[in-house]
Amino acid sequence: MQQTTFSLLVHAIRYDGENTRIIELRPAAGTHLPPVEAGAHIDVHISADLIRQYSLCNTPGETHRYVIGVALDPNSRGGSRWLHDNLQAGDTLTVGAPRNHFGLANTDAHTVLIGGGIGVTPLLSMALQLEAQQRSWSLHFAAKCTEQAPLLQAINTLAKQARYGQVNCYFSESSASRMDVAQVMEEAPKGSHFYCCGPVRLLDTFDKCSESYPPEHCHSERFIAELEVAKGGYTIVLARSGKTLYISEEQTILDALKAEKIAVPYACAEGICGSCEVKVLEGEPDHRDDVLSDAEKARNDTIMVCCSGAFSKQLVLDL
Ligand code: FES
Repeated sequence: MQQTTFSLLVHAIRYDGENTRIIELRPAAGTHLPPVEAGAHIDVHISADLIRQYSLCNTPGETHRYVIGVALDPNSRGGSRWLHDNLQAGDTLTVGAPRNHFGLANTDAHTVLIGGGIGVTPLLSMALQLEAQQRSWSLHFAAKCTEQAPLLQAINTLAKQARYGQVNCYFSESSASRMDVAQVMEEAPKGSHFYCCGPVRLLDTFDKCSESYPPEHCHSERFIAELEVAKGGYTIVLARSGKTLYISEEQTILDALKAEKIAVPYACAEGICGSCEVKVLEGEPDHRDDVLSDAEKARNDTIMVCCSGAFSKQLVLDL
């Protein structure tokens, strides 16, 4: 069975941007991690009941380390605050295997990466992959000012070395330049694929601008939930045990599974991390998550049990 969590050494911590800690995690000497994919993220187990998701900003393909960028969130509920205030080089940290719902499409089309603040983390990894594969790309990165811009050293290095792409930075306070998402998308070569990650306002703008483009060309990743959890009132059948559970009005599938002490992995419980994904064998899910793309939702073969429900009276799950 594939290993799902790893206990990693905090090899190094450095700052890249006033409020951003770059944390490099390594496995025991002589061992390797599942390879990094551009756009992937890992669960970081901060305590028994606190798990947070962070995108990897490694060079894709690396197996000797995971690198995450952690911006200090002023509204932190313990995740980034703890990682900033307590974590030291030499500590160990438990993390999950990488998951990727924000991977690069396999296409020769130009790729436009649109990032705001710490949302640039997965985009940096994507730009490195595109550059290595000699594919055409552009990165548009917005932050308040150079001092607070996460990963700016890494972005500047990439900008200097890039041969197949270009980097455009916008600093609203220090240089009064603002990113115009609509214009960025309009000026991109026809058939481009667009990827966006960043604050809610940027993602909302991107979603609006995306309405004029084929949905399969527009990709985004949110790390803050805006979901309405599905209501109960249906039955789930656990195919492996044959057990049937009724999901009451106020319950999620995850609530019902936990009440029955049926172990299922989960982390955010807000439909944004993908940890709780379960295969659907029969029935029509009512998808409420921010993880699956529209095409993946339309296939109805998987469900995030922390927030999604059912349109059908019954769902048969691969549990
Ligand atoms: S636990 Fe994160 S999507 Fe369900």
